[in-house]
Amino acid sequence: MAIDSPAAAGAGTQAKLIAKNYNLFYLDTGKIYRYIGKLKLEDSKKFNYKFIKRKINDLKMIYLKNKSLLSNEVAVSASIIAKDRKIRNIVHKFQQNCAYNPPKKFRGSVLDGRDITSIQVKDAMFKFYITANVEERARRRFSEYKDLNKKISYAEVLKSLKKRDKSDKERKFGPLKKTKDSILINTTKLSKKACFKKIKAIIDKKLNS
Ligand code: C5P
Repeated sequence: MAIDSPAAAGAGTQAKLIAKNYNLFYLDTGKIYRYIGKLKLEDSKKFNYKFIKRKINDLKMIYLKNKSLLSNEVAVSASIIAKDRKIRNIVHKFQQNCAYNPPKKFRGSVLDGRDITSIQVKDAMFKFYITANVEERARRRFSEYKDLNKKISYAEVLKSLKKRDKSDKERKFGPLKKTKDSILINTTKLSKKACFKKIKAIIDKKLNS
């Protein structure tokens, strides 16, 4: 299963619900770019391809659960390093393994990100493009930051999301785009539950046909 979406559109929430419901291994690929973006913020002198390769070789899923990856600063750094083709290639291998060789107890995998439907898992059985208008996405992200006690205003969140959208869509390697064979889901006016119901109906219809 492959999902692409701009930031804070609700793809992660839906991917987790899908994974749970259909017993699939879930990988939030944005977290890998955030992990690398954070390495750059921590020590820009050590930051080179060899260093990144080693870090990704040693990467454990638990590292991606670290709350420090959730800040806006890390998201911005992630979107900058994500433009680099060599870094994308390093991340590619890790993603392929998760997508095509998930742990045995799962029936398959679900990955979400920016280039999953277009490059990483082109042959996925299901492809979704999940989006929402940018103001609604900023509201949701702002509320998450508030819960995490992050000091950032709504206006800053909105500005940062717009900048990241532009960079993610216009970059040369692995840009965010809706592929023709992806099903569009607009979550602007949908609750998490209503959205999942819609996605589940689409999946079940195909699985039962
Ligand atoms: O999804 P999330 O907002 O956590 O992703 C952070 C950044 O990582 C994105 O803005 C994007 O630049 C990058 N990314 C990417 N390709 C992916 C997932 C994320 O370039 N598959």
